[in-house]
Amino acid sequence: MTIWSPRFETGHAHLDAEHRAFFDQLNRLQDAIESGAGREKIVEMITILQQYSLGHFAREEDHMRKVHCPAIDANCSAHRSFSAKLDGWLELLSTSGSPVTLLRDIHRESSAWIESHILKIDCQLRGCRTIGHAHQP
Ligand SMILES: [Fe+2]
Repeated sequence: MTIWSPRFETGHAHLDAEHRAFFDQLNRLQDAIESGAGREKIVEMITILQQYSLGHFAREEDHMRKVHCPAIDANCSAHRSFSAKLDGWLELLSTSGSPVTLLRDIHRESSAWIESHILKIDCQLRGCRTIGHAHQP
C-alpha cells in the first residue's frame, strides 16, 4: 500500500493531484492482484497506468521546462526508462501465464519507482517558479 504524505508534495497542486492518482491506481492494482483478479483485468489496469503516465509525464516535463527546473533532463530520462519498463512488463504479461509472483514484482517495482522518483526528482520543482524567473538565453 502506497500512502500519500506531504513529503511527496512538489509545490504544484495539479501535478501533486496526478501523483496521488498514481498512488490510487497502484493501490487498486495491488488489491486486484491480491484478490486474484484475472489476467485480463490486471493487463487492463497496467495499460491504463501506462496511458495515464504518458500524459502525466508530458505535462510534468512541460511545467519543468517552463520554470527552468534543473531536474528536467534527469526527469525526462527517468520517465523514458519507466515507460520502457511498463512496455516490457505488458509484453511479458502477453506471453506469460501472469503468475502472481510476477504481478507482485511489477506492483512492488512500480510503487518503489514512483515514490523514489517523486522524492528525488519531482520534488526539485520546489522553489522553481515562472514569475520573476529570468529566461535562459
Ligand atoms: Fe517525474
